[in-house]
Amino acid sequence: MAKGRCFQLDTKKLLFILSLAMVCLSLYTLLSDPGHVSYWNAVPSVHPLAVAQLYHKKNASYDMPTNASRTDSSGTPDATSTIATDWTATKRLPQALIIGVKKGGTRALLEFLRLHPDVRAAGSEPHFFDRHYNRGLDWYRSLMPKALDGQIVMEKTPRYFVSADSPARVHSMSHEVKLIVVVRDPITRAISDYAQIVSKTPGVASFESLSFRNGSAGMEVNSQWSPLWIGLYAQHLERWLAYFPAAQMYFVHGERLVTDPAGEMAHVQDFLGLERIVTDKHFYFNQTKGFPCLKKPEGSSQPHCLGSTKGRAHPQIQQEAIRKLSVFYRPHNLRFYEMVGKDFGWQ
Ligand code: A3P
Repeated sequence: MAKGRCFQLDTKKLLFILSLAMVCLSLYTLLSDPGHVSYWNAVPSVHPLAVAQLYHKKNASYDMPTNASRTDSSGTPDATSTIATDWTATKRLPQALIIGVKKGGTRALLEFLRLHPDVRAAGSEPHFFDRHYNRGLDWYRSLMPKALDGQIVMEKTPRYFVSADSPARVHSMSHEVKLIVVVRDPITRAISDYAQIVSKTPGVASFESLSFRNGSAGMEVNSQWSPLWIGLYAQHLERWLAYFPAAQMYFVHGERLVTDPAGEMAHVQDFLGLERIVTDKHFYFNQTKGFPCLKKPEGSSQPHCLGSTKGRAHPQIQQEAIRKLSVFYRPHNLRFYEMVGKDFGWQ
């Protein structure tokens, strides 16, 4: 009997010790696993705006409260914007670049892309790969707006397309970056460029006299004059194709960006792997401006056209000069069409 009771007591003790050990083991596992700890810590600290932004990404609509993505002119969340403290958004290097061309319609394209909830774009031109490369990638990254996972970060600097060093430098940042070039008839582009020069430097010589070696009567085109040189698209593109496959580049039809912004935006969104969210319902044609404008730009509920430096009146150019420039550009344009596999129809 006594022997049996003793055995019973030992079994109870053993079971008690075993249960205690299991409780200790469970507690240890729970507390030593960082996943558990961060999970419990994270739940109460999810920022409501992060949830709102994720909702916005999934259900992109016009009616998202605009202060959730308020940015300053550089595209960086402004000091008063609560999204600046959104812990899920980080500054990343761009995955897409609008590399050119100057006066092609690059500002319009960037503003249109910024309507997309999966695009975060720097507002001003960083000029990193052409002018400020020695400032380093960390500096460049710091110029980017914060973005959530899945959002595409981008910037536009039209000078990159014609800068000799840019292709190699962009490639060393990323082999996979997507490149967009807005192209426009090189003659109209040159006149647009010249109109900008005149607006900054009144009294400058005429377009005709700057375009030809012996003034307006000359036959030889002054192809080194920057407004004409930039329009040698095939020549500039050659340098990019030494680093990037043509499939990684998209050429936006600058003229169609004006006549059919939604149609061009559909192609650009496809190229960037984005859902087609920017559509014709975002645009209206403003008769006074003579250009498509936005019904509701990013961060505002008011209709908005681009500023007065976009869509300037062009000076009247002599027909003979236009004819000579058409002859000059013709072989360059044809070579460009061949390289990109698309005929832009410039005369
Ligand atoms: P013009 O001023 O010669 O008309 P960029 O932004 O690359 O400097 O290009 C400026 C050009 O963008 C303008 O040249 C204009 O033709 C073109 N553009 C395209 N869409 C536009 C829009 N919706 N509003 C104003 N300009 C637009």
